[in-house]
Amino acid sequence: MDLKADAQRMEKIVSLCKRRGFIFQSSEIYGGLNGCWDYGPFGVELKRNVKNYWWRVMVHERDDVIGMDGSILTHPEVLKASGHVEGFSDPMIDCRTCKARLRADQVIEKKRVRQCPNCGGKDLTEARPFNLMFQTQMGAAADETSIAYLRPETAQSIFVQFKNILEVSRKKLPFGIAQIGKAFRNEINPRNFTFRSREFEQMELEYFCRAEEGMKLLDYWLEERLKFYENIGISRDRLHVKTVPDEERAFYSRGTYDIEFDFPFGRQELEGVAYRTDYDLLQHQKASGKSLEYFDEETKQRFVPHVVEPSAGVDRTVLALICEAYSTDEAPDEKGKMETRLVLRFHPRMAPIKCGIFPLLKNNDQLVAKAKKIVGLLRAHMNVFYDESGAIGRRYRRQDEIGTPFGVTVDFETLGEKTAALTDTVTLRERDSMKQERVKINDLADMLISRIS
Ligand code: GAP
Repeated sequence: MDLKADAQRMEKIVSLCKRRGFIFQSSEIYGGLNGCWDYGPFGVELKRNVKNYWWRVMVHERDDVIGMDGSILTHPEVLKASGHVEGFSDPMIDCRTCKARLRADQVIEKKRVRQCPNCGGKDLTEARPFNLMFQTQMGAAADETSIAYLRPETAQSIFVQFKNILEVSRKKLPFGIAQIGKAFRNEINPRNFTFRSREFEQMELEYFCRAEEGMKLLDYWLEERLKFYENIGISRDRLHVKTVPDEERAFYSRGTYDIEFDFPFGRQELEGVAYRTDYDLLQHQKASGKSLEYFDEETKQRFVPHVVEPSAGVDRTVLALICEAYSTDEAPDEKGKMETRLVLRFHPRMAPIKCGIFPLLKNNDQLVAKAKKIVGLLRAHMNVFYDESGAIGRRYRRQDEIGTPFGVTVDFETLGEKTAALTDTVTLRERDSMKQERVKINDLADMLISRIS
Protein backbone atom coordinates (compact mmCIF):
# COMPACT_ATOMS: atom_id res chain seq x y z
CA MET A 1 0.00 0.00 0.00
CA ASP A 2 1.38 3.41 -0.99
CA LEU A 3 0.25 5.71 1.83
CA LYS A 4 1.41 8.89 0.12
CA ALA A 5 -0.41 8.03 -3.12
CA ASP A 6 -3.56 7.14 -1.16
CA ALA A 7 -3.43 10.44 0.75
CA GLN A 8 -3.01 12.33 -2.53
CA ARG A 9 -5.89 10.41 -4.08
CA MET A 10 -8.09 11.35 -1.12
CA GLU A 11 -7.08 15.02 -1.43
CA LYS A 12 -8.02 14.97 -5.11
CA ILE A 13 -11.37 13.36 -4.32
CA VAL A 14 -12.17 16.00 -1.67
CA SER A 15 -11.20 18.75 -4.06
CA LEU A 16 -13.29 17.30 -6.92
CA CYS A 17 -16.26 17.00 -4.57
CA LYS A 18 -16.08 20.70 -3.85
CA ARG A 19 -15.21 21.86 -7.38
CA ARG A 20 -18.03 19.91 -9.02
CA GLY A 21 -20.68 20.43 -6.36
CA PHE A 22 -20.89 17.07 -4.62
CA ILE A 23 -19.96 17.97 -1.04
CA PHE A 24 -19.12 21.25 0.70
CA GLN A 25 -18.00 21.95 4.25
CA SER A 26 -21.02 23.13 6.23
CA SER A 27 -21.03 26.90 6.99
CA GLU A 28 -17.84 27.23 4.95
CA ILE A 29 -17.99 31.01 4.61
CA TYR A 30 -17.90 31.26 8.43
CA GLY A 31 -14.89 29.00 8.74
CA GLY A 32 -16.79 25.69 8.69
CA LEU A 33 -18.72 23.66 11.21
CA ASN A 34 -16.56 20.72 12.18
CA GLY A 35 -18.02 17.30 11.39
CA CYS A 36 -20.92 18.66 9.32
CA TRP A 37 -21.24 18.60 5.54
CA ASP A 38 -23.61 20.01 2.92
CA TYR A 39 -24.37 18.09 -0.26
CA GLY A 40 -24.39 20.19 -3.44
CA PRO A 41 -26.44 19.70 -6.62
CA PHE A 42 -24.76 16.46 -7.75
CA GLY A 43 -24.09 15.14 -4.24
CA VAL A 44 -27.75 15.33 -3.32
CA GLU A 45 -28.70 13.34 -6.44
CA LEU A 46 -26.13 10.67 -5.66
CA LYS A 47 -27.32 10.46 -2.07
CA ARG A 48 -30.95 10.19 -3.16
CA ASN A 49 -30.08 7.41 -5.60
CA VAL A 50 -28.41 5.46 -2.76
CA LYS A 51 -31.39 5.91 -0.45
CA ASN A 52 -33.98 5.20 -3.14
CA TYR A 53 -32.23 2.01 -4.23
CA TRP A 54 -31.88 0.85 -0.61
CA TRP A 55 -35.60 1.51 -0.05
CA ARG A 56 -36.46 -0.25 -3.29
CA VAL A 57 -34.60 -3.49 -2.50
CA MET A 58 -35.16 -3.50 1.26
CA VAL A 59 -38.84 -2.44 1.33
CA HIS A 60 -40.64 -2.27 -2.04
CA GLU A 61 -39.29 -5.50 -3.49
CA ARG A 62 -40.06 -7.53 -0.36
CA ASP A 63 -43.30 -8.75 1.20
CA ASP A 64 -41.77 -9.04 4.66
CA VAL A 65 -40.54 -5.46 5.23
CA ILE A 66 -42.44 -2.21 5.82
CA GLY A 67 -41.12 1.27 6.43
CA MET A 68 -41.45 4.05 8.97
CA ASP A 69 -40.11 7.54 9.57
CA GLY A 70 -39.57 8.45 13.22
CA SER A 71 -38.86 11.77 14.90
CA ILE A 72 -35.30 12.93 15.44
CA LEU A 73 -36.00 14.49 18.84
CA THR A 74 -36.13 11.60 21.25
CA HIS A 75 -37.71 11.13 24.68
CA PRO A 76 -34.95 10.74 27.29
CA GLU A 77 -36.63 7.61 28.70
CA VAL A 78 -36.17 5.87 25.33
CA LEU A 79 -32.45 6.45 25.42
CA LYS A 80 -32.19 5.60 29.10
CA ALA A 81 -33.84 2.25 28.41
CA SER A 82 -31.65 1.56 25.39
CA GLY A 83 -28.52 2.22 27.45
CA HIS A 84 -27.40 5.30 25.49
CA VAL A 85 -27.70 7.82 28.35
CA GLU A 86 -25.56 5.67 30.59
CA GLY A 87 -23.20 4.04 28.15
CA PHE A 88 -23.01 5.66 24.71
CA SER A 89 -19.61 7.19 25.24
CA ASP A 90 -16.03 7.16 24.03
CA PRO A 91 -13.13 7.48 26.48
CA MET A 92 -11.66 10.95 26.06
CA ILE A 93 -8.31 12.45 27.05
CA ASP A 94 -7.34 16.15 27.06
CA CYS A 95 -3.84 17.41 26.24
CA ARG A 96 -3.05 20.19 28.73
CA THR A 97 -0.31 21.56 26.46
CA CYS A 98 -2.16 22.15 23.17
CA LYS A 99 -5.70 21.76 24.59
CA ALA A 100 -6.54 19.07 22.01
CA ARG A 101 -9.39 16.76 22.94
CA LEU A 102 -8.50 13.23 21.92
CA ARG A 103 -10.14 9.86 21.74
CA ALA A 104 -8.19 7.59 24.09
CA ASP A 105 -7.20 5.26 21.23
CA GLN A 106 -5.51 8.16 19.43
CA VAL A 107 -2.98 8.79 22.19
CA ILE A 108 0.49 7.53 21.30
CA GLU A 109 2.51 5.55 23.80
CA LYS A 110 6.32 5.65 23.57
CA LYS A 111 8.34 3.70 26.12
CA ARG A 112 5.22 3.50 28.26
CA VAL A 113 4.82 7.29 28.27
CA ARG A 114 1.61 8.68 26.80
CA GLN A 115 2.01 11.45 24.23
CA CYS A 116 -0.35 13.82 22.43
CA PRO A 117 -0.40 12.96 18.69
CA ASN A 118 -0.85 16.70 17.91
CA CYS A 119 2.01 18.38 19.80
CA GLY A 120 3.94 15.52 21.39
CA GLY A 121 3.02 16.91 24.85
CA LYS A 122 3.10 14.47 27.74
CA ASP A 123 0.83 16.36 30.13
CA LEU A 124 -2.39 14.44 29.50
CA THR A 125 -5.50 13.96 31.64
CA GLU A 126 -6.77 10.52 32.61
CA ALA A 127 -9.32 8.98 30.24
CA ARG A 128 -12.92 9.79 31.12
CA PRO A 129 -16.17 8.86 29.39
CA PHE A 130 -17.61 11.43 27.02
CA ASN A 131 -21.23 10.87 26.04
CA LEU A 132 -21.64 11.21 22.29
CA MET A 133 -25.28 12.29 22.31
CA PHE A 134 -26.45 15.80 21.54
CA GLN A 135 -28.73 16.97 24.30
CA THR A 136 -31.25 19.75 23.76
CA GLN A 137 -34.08 21.50 25.55
CA MET A 138 -37.74 21.18 24.55
CA GLY A 139 -40.25 23.90 25.36
CA ALA A 140 -39.81 27.06 27.38
CA ALA A 141 -38.74 25.53 30.70
CA ALA A 142 -35.03 24.90 31.08
CA ASP A 143 -34.99 22.16 33.70
CA GLU A 144 -34.47 18.40 33.91
CA THR A 145 -37.96 17.67 32.62
CA SER A 146 -37.39 19.44 29.31
CA ILE A 147 -34.36 17.43 28.19
CA ALA A 148 -34.55 15.70 24.81
CA TYR A 149 -31.85 14.15 22.66
CA LEU A 150 -31.12 14.17 18.96
CA ARG A 151 -31.24 10.48 18.14
CA PRO A 152 -27.83 8.77 17.92
CA GLU A 153 -29.27 5.99 15.71
CA THR A 154 -32.57 5.54 13.89
CA ALA A 155 -33.08 2.07 15.38
CA GLN A 156 -34.67 3.08 18.67
CA SER A 157 -37.81 4.61 17.16
CA ILE A 158 -38.37 1.31 15.34
CA PHE A 159 -38.23 -0.61 18.64
CA VAL A 160 -40.47 1.90 20.36
CA GLN A 161 -43.08 1.74 17.55
CA PHE A 162 -42.81 -2.03 17.18
CA LYS A 163 -46.25 -2.75 18.66
CA ASN A 164 -48.07 -0.04 16.69
CA ILE A 165 -46.56 -1.18 13.41
CA LEU A 166 -47.20 -4.83 14.18
CA GLU A 167 -50.86 -4.04 14.82
CA VAL A 168 -51.44 -1.94 11.72
CA SER A 169 -49.48 -4.16 9.32
CA ARG A 170 -50.57 -7.52 10.77
CA LYS A 171 -47.22 -9.00 9.72
CA LYS A 172 -46.14 -12.44 10.84
CA LEU A 173 -42.62 -13.25 12.02
CA PRO A 174 -40.11 -12.98 10.54
CA PHE A 175 -40.66 -9.43 9.30
CA GLY A 176 -38.74 -6.19 9.27
CA ILE A 177 -39.23 -2.46 9.80
CA ALA A 178 -36.98 -0.18 7.77
CA GLN A 179 -36.05 3.44 8.25
CA ILE A 180 -33.77 6.00 6.62
CA GLY A 181 -32.96 9.17 8.48
CA LYS A 182 -30.58 11.49 10.23
CA ALA A 183 -28.59 10.52 13.30
CA PHE A 184 -26.32 12.69 15.42
CA ARG A 185 -23.19 11.89 17.41
CA ASN A 186 -20.89 14.38 19.02
CA GLU A 187 -17.78 12.57 17.73
CA ILE A 188 -14.66 13.69 19.58
CA ASN A 189 -12.60 13.78 16.39
CA PRO A 190 -14.64 13.91 13.20
CA ARG A 191 -12.30 12.98 10.35
CA ASN A 192 -11.66 11.46 6.95
CA PHE A 193 -14.00 13.83 5.12
CA THR A 194 -17.59 12.66 5.63
CA PHE A 195 -16.57 9.26 7.00
CA ARG A 196 -16.88 10.23 10.66
CA SER A 197 -19.37 13.09 10.89
CA ARG A 198 -21.41 14.54 13.71
CA GLU A 199 -24.58 14.66 11.63
CA PHE A 200 -25.13 11.78 9.22
CA GLU A 201 -27.80 9.54 7.78
CA GLN A 202 -28.45 5.88 8.45
CA MET A 203 -30.38 3.21 6.55
CA GLU A 204 -31.47 0.67 9.13
CA LEU A 205 -33.55 -2.46 9.08
CA GLU A 206 -34.74 -4.18 12.25
CA TYR A 207 -35.70 -7.69 11.18
CA PHE A 208 -37.76 -9.37 13.90
CA CYS A 209 -37.67 -13.12 14.23
CA ARG A 210 -37.88 -16.09 16.59
CA ALA A 211 -34.84 -16.75 18.78
CA GLU A 212 -33.98 -19.96 16.95
CA GLU A 213 -33.81 -18.11 13.58
CA GLY A 214 -31.40 -15.37 14.72
CA MET A 215 -28.03 -16.79 13.74
CA LYS A 216 -29.23 -18.05 10.35
CA LEU A 217 -30.82 -14.69 9.54
CA LEU A 218 -27.63 -12.92 10.53
CA ASP A 219 -25.82 -14.77 7.72
CA TYR A 220 -28.72 -14.27 5.33
CA TRP A 221 -28.68 -10.49 5.83
CA LEU A 222 -24.93 -10.30 5.48
CA GLU A 223 -25.22 -11.86 2.00
CA GLU A 224 -28.14 -9.60 1.03
CA ARG A 225 -26.19 -6.55 2.05
CA LEU A 226 -23.07 -7.61 0.17
CA LYS A 227 -25.25 -8.04 -2.94
CA PHE A 228 -26.59 -4.51 -2.42
CA TYR A 229 -23.11 -2.99 -2.52
CA GLU A 230 -22.20 -4.97 -5.64
CA ASN A 231 -25.43 -3.86 -7.31
CA ILE A 232 -24.57 -0.20 -6.78
CA GLY A 233 -21.15 -0.66 -8.33
CA ILE A 234 -18.78 -1.43 -5.46
CA SER A 235 -16.53 -4.26 -6.50
CA ARG A 236 -16.55 -7.34 -4.29
CA ASP A 237 -12.78 -7.35 -3.89
CA ARG A 238 -12.82 -3.97 -2.16
CA LEU A 239 -15.47 -5.19 0.32
CA HIS A 240 -14.42 -7.21 3.36
CA VAL A 241 -16.37 -8.98 6.04
CA LYS A 242 -15.03 -8.75 9.57
CA THR A 243 -16.48 -11.10 12.15
CA VAL A 244 -16.53 -8.88 15.22
CA PRO A 245 -14.80 -10.77 18.06
CA ASP A 246 -16.59 -11.40 21.37
CA GLU A 247 -14.64 -8.74 23.26
CA GLU A 248 -15.54 -5.98 20.74
CA ARG A 249 -19.21 -6.91 20.36
CA ALA A 250 -22.01 -5.20 22.28
CA PHE A 251 -22.72 -7.42 25.32
CA TYR A 252 -26.26 -8.21 24.11
CA SER A 253 -25.21 -9.20 20.58
CA ARG A 254 -24.78 -12.87 19.79
CA GLY A 255 -23.05 -12.22 16.48
CA THR A 256 -21.96 -9.14 14.51
CA TYR A 257 -20.34 -8.68 11.10
CA ASP A 258 -18.83 -5.44 9.88
CA ILE A 259 -18.87 -4.87 6.15
CA GLU A 260 -15.72 -2.91 5.41
CA PHE A 261 -14.51 -1.04 2.35
CA ASP A 262 -10.99 -0.15 1.21
CA PHE A 263 -11.12 3.65 1.43
CA PRO A 264 -7.95 5.54 0.40
CA PHE A 265 -7.45 6.23 4.15
CA GLY A 266 -7.68 2.54 5.04
CA ARG A 267 -10.08 -0.35 5.42
CA GLN A 268 -13.07 0.97 7.37
CA GLU A 269 -16.62 0.04 8.31
CA LEU A 270 -19.45 0.75 5.88
CA GLU A 271 -22.15 -1.17 7.68
CA GLY A 272 -22.74 -3.36 10.70
CA VAL A 273 -24.95 -6.45 10.58
CA ALA A 274 -25.78 -7.46 14.14
CA TYR A 275 -27.91 -10.05 15.86
CA ARG A 276 -29.16 -7.95 18.81
CA THR A 277 -31.25 -10.74 20.39
CA ASP A 278 -34.38 -9.55 22.27
CA TYR A 279 -32.38 -6.99 24.24
CA ASP A 280 -33.90 -3.77 22.87
CA LEU A 281 -37.55 -4.82 22.97
CA LEU A 282 -37.11 -6.28 26.47
CA GLN A 283 -35.50 -3.07 27.70
CA HIS A 284 -38.34 -0.92 26.34
CA GLN A 285 -40.95 -3.31 27.64
CA LYS A 286 -39.45 -3.15 31.11
CA ALA A 287 -38.97 0.64 31.12
CA SER A 288 -42.33 1.59 29.58
CA GLY A 289 -44.40 -1.08 31.34
CA LYS A 290 -46.12 -1.79 27.97
CA SER A 291 -46.14 -5.25 26.48
CA LEU A 292 -44.02 -5.60 23.35
CA GLU A 293 -44.86 -9.24 22.93
CA TYR A 294 -45.80 -11.03 19.76
CA PHE A 295 -48.65 -13.51 19.75
CA ASP A 296 -48.08 -16.58 17.62
CA GLU A 297 -51.50 -17.68 16.29
CA GLU A 298 -50.32 -21.19 15.49
CA THR A 299 -48.60 -22.12 18.73
CA LYS A 300 -50.69 -19.73 20.88
CA GLN A 301 -47.46 -18.55 22.48
CA ARG A 302 -46.58 -15.01 23.52
CA PHE A 303 -42.96 -13.88 23.41
CA VAL A 304 -40.69 -10.91 22.76
CA PRO A 305 -39.11 -11.32 19.30
CA HIS A 306 -35.40 -11.27 18.61
CA VAL A 307 -33.92 -8.94 16.00
CA VAL A 308 -31.23 -8.92 13.32
CA GLU A 309 -30.12 -5.46 12.26
CA PRO A 310 -28.30 -4.44 9.07
CA SER A 311 -27.33 -0.81 9.76
CA ALA A 312 -25.70 1.16 6.95
CA GLY A 313 -24.48 4.76 6.67
CA VAL A 314 -25.72 6.82 3.72
CA ASP A 315 -22.78 9.20 3.84
CA ARG A 316 -20.24 6.40 4.06
CA THR A 317 -21.87 4.64 1.11
CA VAL A 318 -21.79 7.86 -0.92
CA LEU A 319 -18.12 8.35 -0.02
CA ALA A 320 -17.32 4.73 -0.95
CA LEU A 321 -19.09 5.20 -4.30
CA ILE A 322 -17.08 8.34 -5.05
CA CYS A 323 -13.79 6.69 -4.01
CA GLU A 324 -14.60 3.60 -6.08
CA ALA A 325 -15.65 5.65 -9.12
CA TYR A 326 -12.75 8.11 -9.16
CA SER A 327 -10.33 7.34 -11.97
CA THR A 328 -8.25 8.82 -14.74
CA ASP A 329 -7.44 7.60 -18.22
CA GLU A 330 -6.28 9.01 -21.54
CA ALA A 331 -8.60 10.47 -24.16
CA PRO A 332 -8.06 12.60 -27.29
CA ASP A 333 -8.79 16.33 -27.06
CA GLU A 334 -10.46 18.39 -29.82
CA LYS A 335 -7.33 18.22 -31.97
CA GLY A 336 -6.78 14.52 -31.43
CA LYS A 337 -3.96 15.02 -28.91
CA MET A 338 -4.11 12.62 -25.99
CA GLU A 339 -4.86 14.21 -22.60
CA THR A 340 -5.65 12.95 -19.12
CA ARG A 341 -9.35 12.46 -18.56
CA LEU A 342 -10.83 12.55 -15.07
CA VAL A 343 -13.86 10.30 -14.89
CA LEU A 344 -16.20 9.13 -12.15
CA ARG A 345 -17.19 5.63 -13.22
CA PHE A 346 -20.46 5.46 -11.28
CA HIS A 347 -22.81 2.57 -11.92
CA PRO A 348 -25.50 4.13 -14.19
CA ARG A 349 -28.04 3.32 -11.45
CA MET A 350 -26.22 5.64 -9.03
CA ALA A 351 -25.03 8.39 -11.39
CA PRO A 352 -26.45 11.83 -10.41
CA ILE A 353 -27.15 12.70 -14.06
CA LYS A 354 -28.04 9.84 -16.37
CA CYS A 355 -27.65 11.55 -19.72
CA GLY A 356 -26.10 14.76 -21.05
CA ILE A 357 -27.84 16.28 -24.07
CA PHE A 358 -25.88 18.48 -26.44
CA PRO A 359 -26.81 20.35 -29.62
CA LEU A 360 -23.67 20.39 -31.78
CA LEU A 361 -23.95 24.19 -32.14
CA LYS A 362 -25.75 26.55 -29.81
CA ASN A 363 -26.47 29.15 -32.48
CA ASN A 364 -28.43 26.82 -34.73
CA ASP A 365 -32.12 27.02 -33.83
CA GLN A 366 -33.01 23.67 -35.35
CA LEU A 367 -30.28 21.79 -33.47
CA VAL A 368 -31.23 23.51 -30.21
CA ALA A 369 -34.96 22.85 -30.69
CA LYS A 370 -34.33 19.16 -31.41
CA ALA A 371 -32.03 18.80 -28.38
CA LYS A 372 -34.60 20.47 -26.11
CA LYS A 373 -37.27 18.13 -27.44
CA ILE A 374 -35.09 15.17 -26.40
CA VAL A 375 -34.67 16.75 -22.96
CA GLY A 376 -38.47 16.82 -22.65
CA LEU A 377 -38.72 13.22 -23.83
CA LEU A 378 -36.20 11.83 -21.35
CA ARG A 379 -36.89 14.09 -18.37
CA ALA A 380 -40.02 12.16 -17.40
CA HIS A 381 -37.89 9.05 -16.86
CA MET A 382 -34.51 10.24 -15.59
CA ASN A 383 -32.38 13.18 -14.52
CA VAL A 384 -30.80 14.73 -17.61
CA PHE A 385 -28.55 17.72 -18.22
CA TYR A 386 -28.73 20.09 -21.19
CA ASP A 387 -25.45 21.74 -22.16
CA GLU A 388 -24.85 23.89 -25.23
CA SER A 389 -21.74 25.81 -24.25
CA GLY A 390 -18.20 25.10 -25.47
CA ALA A 391 -16.71 22.54 -27.81
CA ILE A 392 -18.43 19.17 -27.77
CA GLY A 393 -15.31 17.45 -26.37
CA ARG A 394 -15.25 19.87 -23.41
CA ARG A 395 -18.92 19.13 -22.74
CA TYR A 396 -18.22 15.39 -22.71
CA ARG A 397 -15.36 15.95 -20.24
CA ARG A 398 -17.56 17.99 -17.91
CA GLN A 399 -20.06 15.12 -17.80
CA ASP A 400 -17.29 12.51 -17.40
CA GLU A 401 -16.09 14.36 -14.30
CA ILE A 402 -19.47 14.06 -12.61
CA GLY A 403 -19.97 10.48 -13.78
CA THR A 404 -22.75 10.89 -16.36
CA PRO A 405 -22.88 7.51 -18.11
CA PHE A 406 -24.45 8.64 -21.40
CA GLY A 407 -24.24 11.61 -23.74
CA VAL A 408 -26.53 12.41 -26.66
CA THR A 409 -25.38 14.74 -29.42
CA VAL A 410 -27.78 16.31 -31.89
CA ASP A 411 -25.99 17.06 -35.17
CA PHE A 412 -26.75 17.82 -38.80
CA GLU A 413 -27.44 14.14 -39.52
CA THR A 414 -30.26 14.40 -36.96
CA LEU A 415 -31.81 17.15 -39.07
CA GLY A 416 -31.52 14.92 -42.16
CA GLU A 417 -29.21 17.39 -43.89
CA LYS A 418 -26.66 14.77 -44.98
CA THR A 419 -28.14 11.28 -45.15
CA ALA A 420 -31.92 11.01 -45.25
CA ALA A 421 -31.83 7.62 -43.51
CA LEU A 422 -30.21 9.22 -40.44
CA THR A 423 -32.96 11.80 -39.93
CA ASP A 424 -34.07 11.81 -36.31
CA THR A 425 -31.13 9.77 -35.10
CA VAL A 426 -28.52 10.99 -32.59
CA THR A 427 -25.07 9.98 -31.43
CA LEU A 428 -25.17 8.11 -28.13
CA ARG A 429 -21.81 8.14 -26.35
CA GLU A 430 -20.96 5.80 -23.52
CA ARG A 431 -18.79 7.32 -20.76
CA ASP A 432 -16.38 4.48 -19.96
CA SER A 433 -15.64 3.05 -23.41
CA MET A 434 -16.25 6.45 -25.13
CA LYS A 435 -17.85 4.38 -27.92
CA GLN A 436 -20.46 6.15 -30.00
CA GLU A 437 -23.44 4.64 -31.75
CA ARG A 438 -26.22 6.05 -33.89
CA VAL A 439 -29.61 5.66 -32.23
CA LYS A 440 -33.14 6.62 -33.27
CA ILE A 441 -34.61 9.35 -31.03
CA ASN A 442 -37.71 7.20 -30.64
CA ASP A 443 -35.64 4.33 -29.20
CA LEU A 444 -33.61 6.48 -26.79
CA ALA A 445 -35.86 6.44 -23.72
CA ASP A 446 -36.34 2.64 -23.68
CA MET A 447 -32.68 2.01 -24.35
CA LEU A 448 -31.50 4.26 -21.53
CA ILE A 449 -34.15 3.15 -19.02
CA SER A 450 -33.03 -0.46 -19.39
CA ARG A 451 -29.44 0.56 -18.66
CA ILE A 452 -30.06 2.76 -15.63
CA SER A 453 -32.72 0.91 -13.67
N1 GAP B 1 -28.13 0.88 15.13
C1 GAP B 1 -26.80 0.39 15.08
C2 GAP B 1 -25.82 1.42 14.86
O1 GAP B 1 -26.10 2.60 14.87
P1 GAP B 1 -23.29 1.79 14.33
O2 GAP B 1 -22.25 0.79 13.91
O3 GAP B 1 -22.96 2.68 15.45
O4 GAP B 1 -24.59 0.91 14.62
C3 GAP B 1 -24.18 2.04 11.91
O5 GAP B 1 -23.68 2.65 13.06
C4 GAP B 1 -23.62 2.72 10.67
O6 GAP B 1 -23.88 4.12 10.73
C5 GAP B 1 -22.10 2.61 10.53
O7 GAP B 1 -21.72 1.39 9.94
C6 GAP B 1 -21.81 3.78 9.64
O8 GAP B 1 -22.06 3.48 8.28
C7 GAP B 1 -22.82 4.82 10.09
N2 GAP B 1 -22.18 5.75 11.06
C8 GAP B 1 -22.01 5.57 12.38
N3 GAP B 1 -21.38 6.63 12.93
C9 GAP B 1 -21.12 7.48 11.91
C10 GAP B 1 -20.49 8.76 11.84
N4 GAP B 1 -20.01 9.38 12.91
N5 GAP B 1 -20.41 9.37 10.64
C11 GAP B 1 -20.91 8.77 9.52
N6 GAP B 1 -21.52 7.57 9.54
C12 GAP B 1 -21.64 6.92 10.72
